[in-house]
Amino acid sequence: MGDVGRMTDDITAGSPASDTFLPGDGYVGDPAVRAEWDNRYADRQQLWSGRPNGALVAEVAGLVPGRVLDVGCGEGADAVWLARGGWDVTALEVSGVALARAAGHARDAGVDVRWVHAGLTEAALPPASFDLVSAQYPALLRTPDAAAERALLAAVAPGGVLLLVHHAGMDTQHAHDSGFDPADYVWPSMVAALLTDGWKVEVNEQRPRVAPDGGAGAHHTDDLVLRARRLR
Ligand SMILES: C[S@@+](CC[C@H](N)C(=O)[O-])C[C@H]1O[C@@H](n2cnc3c(N)ncnc32)[C@H](O)[C@@H]1O
Repeated sequence: MGDVGRMTDDITAGSPASDTFLPGDGYVGDPAVRAEWDNRYADRQQLWSGRPNGALVAEVAGLVPGRVLDVGCGEGADAVWLARGGWDVTALEVSGVALARAAGHARDAGVDVRWVHAGLTEAALPPASFDLVSAQYPALLRTPDAAAERALLAAVAPGGVLLLVHHAGMDTQHAHDSGFDPADYVWPSMVAALLTDGWKVEVNEQRPRVAPDGGAGAHHTDDLVLRARRLR
């Protein structure tokens, strides 16, 4: 069974996932961001494909399983796939609706995942402690102090890898009437710009996406993939 009891206290701020999330349940983060994503998930029974992201599957091949942080884990397909592959998974997400689904999938799969109900920058993650930090299409809001970019980098252990994947072309779109403005979000180039000589860039490219069948993001055809290893 997915261990929804063995969670976050020793790891981060943020509340453990359960099947119900109530106001004041210990969520740590911006309530507006949580509400926006909860509404998006609640609109559909299932938002994403239910399969692990292709870029993650490709990039993780060859890595020795260790501690992984899945940032913005959504409905948990990557987290469950990683746990099945022997990784010790911490999965962080602002949406309680998504986390409840993710915890259910882990339970069905019989794997343990440490779920964290929090925003990335508010989660007080233990520094330099993950062998892999995976952020797949993470929708992180940009701030003047680059807090999200720094939080992604700070979580990676020496010798570990940051894998940040986004949809190609979104960063250069014009702002939509729908309210989407690429200037509001963190893109891989912004994280790459912060890499010092303590990091080795292993991949920084645009490439065709191994597109999932179905799910709300299935129309995106290309990925931006940034994979960087922390040297010390
Ligand atoms: C485009 S979805 C991708 C979900 C998942 N990684 C996948 O590939 O299916 C972006 C996810 O990031 C989450 N998110 C948004 N802001 C966040 C934040 N500040 N910290 C953590 N997760 C966040 C959203 O709730 C959503 O689940």
